Amino acid sequence: MSKPSVLFVCLGNICRSPLAEGIYRHVSGASDDDDSIASAGLGGWHAGDPPDPRSIHVARRHGIDIARQRARQVSLDDFRRYERILAMDRSNLARLTALAPEDGTARVELFSEACHGTQQDVPDPYYGGDAGFLEVYTMLLAGCEALAESTGRDTAS
Ligand code: 4NP
Repeated sequence: MSKPSVLFVCLGNICRSPLAEGIYRHVSGASDDDDSIASAGLGGWHAGDPPDPRSIHVARRHGIDIARQRARQVSLDDFRRYERILAMDRSNLARLTALAPEDGTARVELFSEACHGTQQDVPDPYYGGDAGFLEVYTMLLAGCEALAESTGRDTAS
């Protein structure tokens, strides 16, 4: 079964999408240097930064190390390089759709749509407390497990 390359995208690439990348690597048994799984942000404010400490912490509590990730901004080449680009919320999706170049080949979708066939935003936890990061972690875990299973990326495949 083919294992499509996936880029997870949020606004800053420091809270949600690094967690999604780390969780997806974990549930698919992919190593840190497997470049068919990645994440990026629509904004470039945090480019080069590690994930938000609250994302690092909630991942670590669940046995996942995302501390070595570094933020980067989405590029037009991403639309040709990745087979799937998954937006954390509908605002991210609208911006990605507007950005997509004509020769882009990626399937650009809402994360929840790709995972569960639902239209549910993964809420931005940046201005909230730790509870928001746990909620995001839980949503991302359920989604990533479903996605890995449906794309043959789960470790049982
Ligand atoms: P993320 O959260 O999109 O989940 O990485 C945010 C991080 C930073 C900012 C906004 C959202 N910011 O405005 O700097």
